[in-house]
Amino acid sequence: MSAPHAKLILGIETSCDETAAAVVDTGGMMRSSVVASQHELHAEYKGVVPEIASRAHAERLLPVVRAAVEEAGVCMGDLWAVAVGHKPGLIGSLLVGVAGAKALAWALGVPLVGVDHVHAHLFAGFLRGEDGDAGDASGTASDHALIANHLPAIGLVLSGGHTSIFAVHGPGEVERVGATIDDAVGEAFDKVASILGLATPTGGGPAVERLAGQCGSGRAGPGQGAKRFNLPISTLGPHSLDFSFSGLKTAVLYAACGVPERGESPVPGRVLLDEAGRAELCAAFQRAVVDAVELKLRRAFAIGPEARSLLVGGGVTANRAVREMLARVAKEHGVPLVMPPMNLCVDNAAMIAWMGALVLESRAWASDPLSLAATPTT
Ligand code: KG4
Ligand code: ZN
Repeated sequence: MSAPHAKLILGIETSCDETAAAVVDTGGMMRSSVVASQHELHAEYKGVVPEIASRAHAERLLPVVRAAVEEAGVCMGDLWAVAVGHKPGLIGSLLVGVAGAKALAWALGVPLVGVDHVHAHLFAGFLRGEDGDAGDASGTASDHALIANHLPAIGLVLSGGHTSIFAVHGPGEVERVGATIDDAVGEAFDKVASILGLATPTGGGPAVERLAGQCGSGRAGPGQGAKRFNLPISTLGPHSLDFSFSGLKTAVLYAACGVPERGESPVPGRVLLDEAGRAELCAAFQRAVVDAVELKLRRAFAIGPEARSLLVGGGVTANRAVREMLARVAKEHGVPLVMPPMNLCVDNAAMIAWMGALVLESRAWASDPLSLAATPTT
């Protein structure tokens, strides 16, 4: 049930290759969430083509916004504010969302709030759905007091563009304390899928997870992928909270396609392993990712023992082995894990609307619909 005086906020998300819009109320209740994925448009290029992405956003934005408003059972005039993911991301894609959001907010005469996409992932676990299918902190009133009870928190975003650890003091007070120095973890999943020549209709990560799953639990133990393939994890020294996945990705390339030192010329997609070998390699890769993230997370808890919860989000937190590890680490540290359901781990506009509502209600935002800028970096 929605709170009786909850106000409605429209969220718009176009930072990469998903055109998304959602209506969420100020109590964190998700009224609608529409995501138009562009996976099929980019598939043949093995990566997101920025020009194609921004053109598709321009074509789809208004139909997707209309669908979100309709699905919520409201009309445009009921909206109290518009939130848009305005950083970070592909600049051409962000510009489409920001221009659309500005026009809507201006036409409706409502405030416009710019949201950091990565920070929005952190708070997605507090959203609630009409049928109760929301984040792990839901089940009670998902209001500001509930969020305050979870702060300060350690935040972790594992996505296709970002792999970062945060000290989270509030919706508008998110301090990055660690980040990848090269590939993002989702990018590594995508590249491994490409190296192994996997069909990726819904993205590289799910394809790698599926194949890894053919090795028992998908978390390779002794005798499975972890033993046959000895993949490295970068610790980056004894205290670093940063990540590095490019060495791991190269190790997968050599294990799958040949080692230059042996006179072989590894070519992504030209795989020397049989089906079982590929599955074992996926399991070993997934195991190495889980171990690398777990190591840095434990370090973060050791440095910041005052954390009252673990907030996580981003596409890679849809991975079952990753989710199991996160639950285990949170339990061992005696804090709740606030993790969105799978559909809200990946990019969506409900998290943007919700973050916008939190920022607007905390009065940490002065709306100026005409001057909000799209920014490719954080
Ligand atoms: O958060 P997101 O939707 O977009 C960004 O903000 O980047 O994350 C997308 C990333 C992709 O790299 C995708 O391969 C990865 O999340 N991903 C997964 C899984 N589902 C999505 N990685 C591993 N296992 C999954 N099940
Ligand atoms: Zn994202």
